[in-house]
Formats: sequence, structure tokens, C-alpha cells
Amino acid sequence: MAIHTVLVTGGAGYIGSHACVELLEAGFNVVVVDNLSNSNPESLARVQKLTGKSLAFYEVDIRDKQSLSDIFVKEMPDTVVHFAGLKAVGESCEQPHLYYHNNVFGTLVLTEVMQAHQVKQLVFSSSATVYGITDKTQYSEDLPIGAINPYGRSKAMVEDILRDLAEADKIAKPDKPWKIALLRYFNPIGAHESGLIGEDPNGTPNNLMPYVAQVAIGKLPQLSVFGDDYPTHDGTGIRDYIHVIDLVKGHIKAIHAFNNAHFVEGNCKAYNLGAGRGYSVLEIIKKFEEVTGKTINYKIAPRRPGDLAEYFANPELALQELNWKVEKTLHDMVADTWNWQSKNPQGYR
Ligand code: NAD
Ligand code: WQD
Repeated sequence: MAIHTVLVTGGAGYIGSHACVELLEAGFNVVVVDNLSNSNPESLARVQKLTGKSLAFYEVDIRDKQSLSDIFVKEMPDTVVHFAGLKAVGESCEQPHLYYHNNVFGTLVLTEVMQAHQVKQLVFSSSATVYGITDKTQYSEDLPIGAINPYGRSKAMVEDILRDLAEADKIAKPDKPWKIALLRYFNPIGAHESGLIGEDPNGTPNNLMPYVAQVAIGKLPQLSVFGDDYPTHDGTGIRDYIHVIDLVKGHIKAIHAFNNAHFVEGNCKAYNLGAGRGYSVLEIIKKFEEVTGKTINYKIAPRRPGDLAEYFANPELALQELNWKVEKTLHDMVADTWNWQSKNPQGYR
């Protein structure tokens, strides 16, 4: 079998670094393009240590068209996995221009360069956040899109752009049509079981799991549980948490699926990557205490604006068409988070 080269944008980040491990272990050549705006190159050193394999790294912003184009000439990738983007919802409300420029314009530049080099297989990091407010708690891919903040809208806009690209090829019928998987992640948590790579947020974490881990290690004094009066079984918010290793395996399944009937003549399809069941904030805290033996100091605080009570994935389509489903348990997610946090109390620093 020919060895395929995958260009990974944002490969030094949390999910990207785990994807690099799985791609290298699956036999792909890996080329990372990352501007290190939210990551540390130590993650890539550890990926190579962990796998015993090397990758190529370019410290380049995907909006730098000339540099990106030079990388395509030199490395000749056949597929791109596109993680590069900004992801903090609150920051996106304060600085929408930054988010649209980075996430939307960045993807335009990337896809222009891909098209110019006839590289037309793309796996895109989308998010469950593209779904609008609905009376459903289980989200299927055919629900309407209706993101409620600039971050979510940047993802929804990119999905539209990518669908339009694939559609244009259906009309023009080129020899090599776009094949695009839009992977809508639910709530990724956990770390590689080695404890060598994991999530290393800048400053105070926004998300639940890294916050809990930093309370457990003593870096933060107390967790605020945002609301205990939601219409859920214990009053706290319910989310579909997914182990980052399960998540990145979904990307490899998507690359393989580019050869199957759903993509063979070109397509752009969205897939939920989630477990199909949710856990509440209190259930996460309880499991963390049980697995680590640590007590999590928490208080009940007001609801966080913009939060929904409960949602989780319908992951059937990914099972049917990508042959993918989660394998790890909540115990694995918590144990691996703690293994990473306790071995790296200062992250990569
Ligand atoms: P992350 O911040 O750890 O990784 C993103 C990486 O992209 C970072 O290394 C950053 O330096 C890089 N980057 C950002 N802008 C860039 C640019 N213009 N050029 C080159 N590199 C750039 O985030 P993550 O959690 O690994 O998320 C990866 C992707 O998955 C993002 O697109 C995010 O929106 C999406 N996503 C994440 C979550 C989540 O909860 N972590 C959920 C759904 C979707
Ligand atoms: C989970 C639950 C909170 C922190 C976010 C983005 C979404 C996606 C994933 C990228 C909720 C509660 C949290 C805390 C708490 N990212 N919580 N105290 O909000 O589901 O999704 O990350 O695409 O776009 O919005 O994840 O981890 O922030 O919250 O009680 O300090 O934990 O209210 O119920 P969320 P989260």
C-alpha cells in the first residue's frame, strides 16, 4: 500500500497532538502546520517520543498563503486534517473579528491552497455547538444549524463553505472531486494513557474537566458548578463527554471512508462524534473523586449564560458510514486526565 501523507493543521494542540499519535501509529506520514498561538512545540516532541516515529513541523499560520503553498510543494500531502482554529466561546463574543478571521478566513486560504495543489480530501473539526437551540436533547446530523455565538457561527460558516465547494465539483464533475468529512465533536476530554500528552489550557480553564483536574492538583481553589436547577436528574448540566483517543480514531476512520461508497464520487458529509449518552456535572465530580481519591472542593454557582441543560449525540451515522463508535468509559476519561495532570502539573511548561 502506498504511504499516505497527512497534513495536520493545529497539530500541536490538544486534539491535534493526539491525532498525530494515532496517524503515525496507523502508518501515515505526518506534516504539522501550527502557529503555536495556543500550544507548545513540546507536545510534538512528546508525540515523537511516544511513537518512536518522526513528523515534519512548520511553525506557520494557515493564513500565510505563500508559506502554506511552499509546504504543499515540498511535502505533497494527499489529505488534510484541519484542527487549526480558536475555540473559546467567551473570547469569540468579545473579539468576533479575530474568530472569523482565524477560523473562516484561515479555512478559505487553506482550501484555496489545497485546490491549487489538487489535494481534495479534508477532515474538518466542527462542533456540536453548530446545532441551534431545539426541544431535542439528542442531536442527529439532520437537525437545523443555528449556532448562538461567534465561535459556533464560525464553525457553521466553514461547514457551509465546504459544502459549497463539494457541490461545485458535482456540477463541474472534475476527475478528482472534493471529499470532506465535517466531524462534529461533542465534549472531548481525557488524555493519552501514557500521560505524556494531554490538554494544557492557557490560563484558567473554561471547560469542566481541566478545571476539575486543576482543583484536584491544588492549582485552583474551588470549582463553581454552574447551576443546580436545570431540569435534569440532579439539576446540573448534562453533556456527552468523549475520550480524545476515541475522537481522533474517528478521524482515521473518516480518512479510510473517503474510499467508500459514501464519498467515492465526491461529497461533503457531517458526522457526530459522541458517545450517545451524557453525564451530569455532579456525576463527573463524583467519578473524579472515586478514581483519584481526591476531594473536589466545589460550590453551586449561578447558571453560565448560553449553557443548555442537556444534550448528547446520536452517533448512529458515524457507526453506519465510518464504522466508528466510542470504546472508552468515563473511568478511562477521568483516569487518563488525572494521569496527565498529576505527571505534568504545569502542563508542557
Ligand atoms: P487547541 O487550541 O489545543 O488546538 C488548536 C491548534 O491550532 C493550536 O495548536 C493553535 O496554536 C493552532 N492554531 C490556531 N490558529 C491557527 C492558525 N491560524 N494557523 C496555524 N495554527 C493555528 O484546540 P483543540 O481543543 O485541540 O481543538 C482543535 C479543533 O477542534 C479546533 O478547531 C476546535 O474549534 C475544534 N473543537 C474543539 C473542541 C474542544 O472542546 N476541545 C470541541 C469541538 C471542536
Ligand atoms: C460542561 C458542563 C457547564 C465549567 C464547550 C463549548 C463547545 C465545545 C466544547 C468547542 C456544562 C459545566 C463547566 C465549570 C461547570 N467546544 N461547568 N463549571 O459548555 O458543554 O462546551 O466546550 O467546540 O463549543 O461551548 O463544555 O466543559 O465548558 O461545560 O459547572 O467551571 O460543565 O455548565 O454544564 P460545554 P464545558
